[in-house]
Amino acid sequence: MPSTVLILGATSDMAVALAKKFASKGHNIQLAARNADRLKPLQSDLSIRYNITSSIHEFDAVKFEQHQSFWDSLSPKPDITISVMGYMNDNDKVIADQNETLKTIHTNYSGPVSILNIVANDYSAKEQGTIVGISSVAGMRGRQSNYIYGSAKAGFTAYLSGLRNKLFHQKVHVLTVLPGFVYTKMTEHLNLPKLLTAQPENVADAVYKGVQKKKNVIFVKWFWRWIMLIITSIPEFMFKKKKL
Ligand SMILES: NC(=O)c1ccc[n+]([C@@H]2O[C@H](COP(=O)([O-])OP(=O)(O)OC[C@H]3O[C@@H](n4cnc5c(N)ncnc54)[C@H](OP(=O)(O)O)[C@@H]3O)[C@@H](O)[C@H]2O)c1
Repeated sequence: MPSTVLILGATSDMAVALAKKFASKGHNIQLAARNADRLKPLQSDLSIRYNITSSIHEFDAVKFEQHQSFWDSLSPKPDITISVMGYMNDNDKVIADQNETLKTIHTNYSGPVSILNIVANDYSAKEQGTIVGISSVAGMRGRQSNYIYGSAKAGFTAYLSGLRNKLFHQKVHVLTVLPGFVYTKMTEHLNLPKLLTAQPENVADAVYKGVQKKKNVIFVKWFWRWIMLIITSIPEFMFKKKKL
């Protein structure tokens, strides 16, 4: 029987690439996002192109009180759940406005944790399932230009690590994805270094392989592991003087 993949935050460029990748391998796809009507073109594209079953669902990461009923409404329950949603704004704007601060924290941390706890409880009881979290290398060290987003992603990465440790004993696989720079709507206003920047399709390929091989943590482009090793090795007394 083909397995079903749930994608949370399905309007994102990465999510579109992920949906196409998993559909091309014969998986059925459940697409979930705010204003889910926007997903109809993707849904019909997936069905026509890959001859799989797909469905669309209303889901808002920060409407915590709706998360249990959202999960209860899914039929069948997905075998693989991928949390893609996130939010990043200019750090100066984020620290100047409490609504922006909370939106950043809730979209990148509290919302994903709220829904993934529900998914994890179900998978744990069944002793099967795969959870994928798209986090960020920004969570590996706080920088003055991005520390609200970065700290929310740091929390999410730590959450996924703890979840993996807990669910390993129930045969549930948890994959953490650290993409590095990726060309998407989130970064279109930034002047990203071409050599260091991935395409959404690279993320989709890496996630698909990571799920197949039951990896724990993946960097989409191999060199990000070494870049972050250098960045995290700089002593704090030096790091604080830099304008990063
Ligand atoms: N691009 C990069 O360089 C990069 C690097 C590392 C990690 N990431 C992470 O990769 C993931 C995908 O981002 P992206 O680059 O593909 O950017 P994107 O296209 O801006 O995607 C962000 C997604 O999050 C969704 N979202 C925001 N608030 C939501 C909420 N309250 N409820 C449900 N969905 C919500 C957005 O949905 P709407 O359409 O409804 O706004 C959108 O689908 C994010 O977690 C991001 O932090 C990105």
